[in-house]
Amino acid sequence: MKLTYYGHSCFSVVIGGKILLFDPFITYNELANNIVDVDSLPADFILVSHGHQDHIADCVRIATRTGAKVIGAWEVHEWLQKQGVSNTHPMNTGGKWNFGAFTVKCVVAQHSSGLPDGTYGGNPMGFIITSAEGNFYYSGDTALTLDMQLIPRWAKLNFAVLPIGDNFTMDAVDAAACAEMIQCKTIVGVHYDTFGFIKIDHPAAEKVFRDSGAELKLVPISTTAEL
Ligand code: NI
Ligand code: MN
Repeated sequence: MKLTYYGHSCFSVVIGGKILLFDPFITYNELANNIVDVDSLPADFILVSHGHQDHIADCVRIATRTGAKVIGAWEVHEWLQKQGVSNTHPMNTGGKWNFGAFTVKCVVAQHSSGLPDGTYGGNPMGFIITSAEGNFYYSGDTALTLDMQLIPRWAKLNFAVLPIGDNFTMDAVDAAACAEMIQCKTIVGVHYDTFGFIKIDHPAAEKVFRDSGAELKLVPISTTAEL
């Protein structure tokens, strides 16, 4: 599977020729907004893990241009409908849905979720994506939680996308522990370096994963990795 990183927690994965874009946040990301053109980003589906600005800021803009179907919590769906985005699919923690080329299962994330205007965003979520081409887990913003031990029941993962920036989410040490719980050795790190609170030491983070027998991939912005 091909994963393209767009900075912070925004990335896309292509499955069955469909482009799944996660947590679009380009406009306000100083590390990405000179490199990534938000108005030419392709998407067939947009998956939003929770309502925070740094995960949803460009969702309406991209959904409006592309007509992509937006998948997220019920409350995020209701809010998007009020912003004029009509092609949405509401879900909630524990549920799964087959979208054709892939299935999405929503899992627990230990975080919070308010939308940019203060509207309640429901529960934050992680996603397990399963398909004929492979499976992956995107945890969304979360603490390390024992709930992650359940994930191998639902999918044998090719890779996982985990936050490593600390302060708002797991750090690299907790993310490496998560990698063990979910039985996955290939981890793409996200949610780091974007703001002062989450700047990290890259070689130190990579070493934490190496020491636990896994690999941390820090994909440069606007670059595609084969996973
Ligand atoms: Ni958040
Ligand atoms: Mn965040």
